[in-house]
Amino acid sequence: MTTQPTPADKFSFGLWTVGYNGADPFGGPTRAPLDVVHAVEKLAKLGAYGLTFHDDDLFAFGSTAAERQKQIDRLKQALSDTGLIVPMVTTNLFSAPVFKDGGFTSNDRGVRRFAMRKAMQQLALGVELGAKTFVMWGGREGAEYDSAKNVRAALERYREALNLFGDHVTEKGYDIRFAIEPKPNEPRGDILLPTVGHAMAFIETLERPALFGVNPEVGHEQMAGLNFTSGIAQALYQDKLFHIDLNGQRGIKYDQDLVFGHGDLHNAFSLVDLLENGGPGGGQSYTGPRHFDYKPSRTEDETGVWDSAAANMRTYLLLKERAAAFRADPDVQEALTAARVFELSENTLDENESYDDLLADRSSYEDFDHDAYFNGKGFGFVRLQQLATEHLMGAR
Ligand code: GCO
Ligand code: MN
Ligand code: MN
Repeated sequence: MTTQPTPADKFSFGLWTVGYNGADPFGGPTRAPLDVVHAVEKLAKLGAYGLTFHDDDLFAFGSTAAERQKQIDRLKQALSDTGLIVPMVTTNLFSAPVFKDGGFTSNDRGVRRFAMRKAMQQLALGVELGAKTFVMWGGREGAEYDSAKNVRAALERYREALNLFGDHVTEKGYDIRFAIEPKPNEPRGDILLPTVGHAMAFIETLERPALFGVNPEVGHEQMAGLNFTSGIAQALYQDKLFHIDLNGQRGIKYDQDLVFGHGDLHNAFSLVDLLENGGPGGGQSYTGPRHFDYKPSRTEDETGVWDSAAANMRTYLLLKERAAAFRADPDVQEALTAARVFELSENTLDENESYDDLLADRSSYEDFDHDAYFNGKGFGFVRLQQLATEHLMGAR
């Protein structure tokens, strides 16, 4: 296996990621603005296959139709020159001051209508460019104060917007699906649909749930203290993993957007193992874009930007290589069997066994000697995890 990325690896980057200029709430930019054509050329050279963007990343908020078109044409030219594609687009409903209380769920009805129109314009551009996914990150859809937001009404307005978009793409025959990106907080004190679980439950209330899935981000679940790999497993189980944002995060604090793997490396390992080897028969369980939503650190110059972009892809491929070695190791297979990991895939009931049959099975209860059955034996999970750790470290 090679750790040189190729388009077959389906690595994509947000224009806002490599384009991040290093400004934060405490200080100004450390880097000059990055032109989209340069970004496309650099990413293609590094082995990525896709570029994603918010409307406002490509043309400044408030651009005239001519300014907007000029940037679209420049992007199209760069795509055709390099072969890069646009697998996903998204809309910025958080930077402009008008969105300070949200877009689709702002208390202000005029803002909500403006947000719907802005999203629909970007949706049409996404379709024109061949994007198959429209991500919705509602960073400002939330509140700081419980008294200031009627959450049930806000969810109803969210539904109204998403149902409208579902009707719109269906009636227009657009080949695009929506992916909701959860985040617990930042910039709002509390954001609506804060975790993968909240978002997936909400999707079931929509009129066309099949058009909606999730775009989970490593750091966002980890900001809430949750296990990202486990959330991804549930999204896969429910056929809702439409897209993924890979990055790194160290614990429950502000959204760090570090390079993938530069946070909880064990969780990154189990994630790549799940995506690459967790499918039926041991193949890929996820075949969509491996999308990096990270921020080159504020300390870096432009060289550091491209080094960090390359680092995301290389770390992913190294983890993929380590995960394959982990799966192929006979000691690991033996430890998995001993830990009865495979036994969990067996049905708990026999084929055609009814609850009456179960109730009649004395061996499962009346005659089940749990002390003798248990007999002091453990599962051996620690040994298994140490094998994973040693593969992750390249020690096996
Ligand atoms: C964040 C989010 C965003 C979204 C992006 C796409 O925390 O800032 O992760 O980067 O992914 O807006 O919708
Ligand atoms: Mn983020
Ligand atoms: Mn993201």
